[in-house]
Amino acid sequence: MFKIAVLVSGGGSNLQSIIDKVHEGYLDCSIEMVIGDRQCYGVERSTKAGIKGIVLDRKVYKDKLSEEIFELLKGRVDLIVLAGWLSILKGDILKEYHNKIINIHPSLIPSFCGDKMYGIKVHEKAIEYGVKFSGCTVHFVDEETDSGPIILQKVVKVFYEDTPVMLQSRILEQEHMALPEAIKYISEGKISIINRKVKINND
Ligand code: GRF
Repeated sequence: MFKIAVLVSGGGSNLQSIIDKVHEGYLDCSIEMVIGDRQCYGVERSTKAGIKGIVLDRKVYKDKLSEEIFELLKGRVDLIVLAGWLSILKGDILKEYHNKIINIHPSLIPSFCGDKMYGIKVHEKAIEYGVKFSGCTVHFVDEETDSGPIILQKVVKVFYEDTPVMLQSRILEQEHMALPEAIKYISEGKISIINRKVKINND
């Protein structure tokens, strides 16, 4: 059974989409653990679903957070999923889980991403800039922020009268499809990466 851990910092709607897709049989995976870097509804969702959920408070663990997560997960999961995770991972976990950590970002990377670009701010910048399309990106996590190989993207039209919240909710709907789809491809061994370009072998 393909084992995953999900890391959350917020409401956990992306986590919920993974939980639902496992229950529906779309994902043949086991969610072994949910880790929050703060008390958040995402961790509560895990316990409601009967999944082990723990909080490693980033204010307590500080620069030991990545090490603590690595100790908890190494050898126990095949994939780490960042679903609205706001802390930076660094050190051994990135080495040992190279191309085995994925993240979902609510824009079409490389637009509107990078340092301090998260949450509603991403959508404020997209609307401010006047883009006609935005969307979400699922990518592998590397040492930088939002810069690893892109696995898949979903495109969302931006309307003139859109507010950031309207755009955010439209993109979130696509995120809830994109993240489970990426996990499915990975769990089925359908992903190869050649010179940072990701090929999905969907034959
Ligand atoms: C999502 O928009 C995701 O793209 C971003 O943070 C948000 C998390 O939402 N990384 P939720 O906690 O999954 O509801």
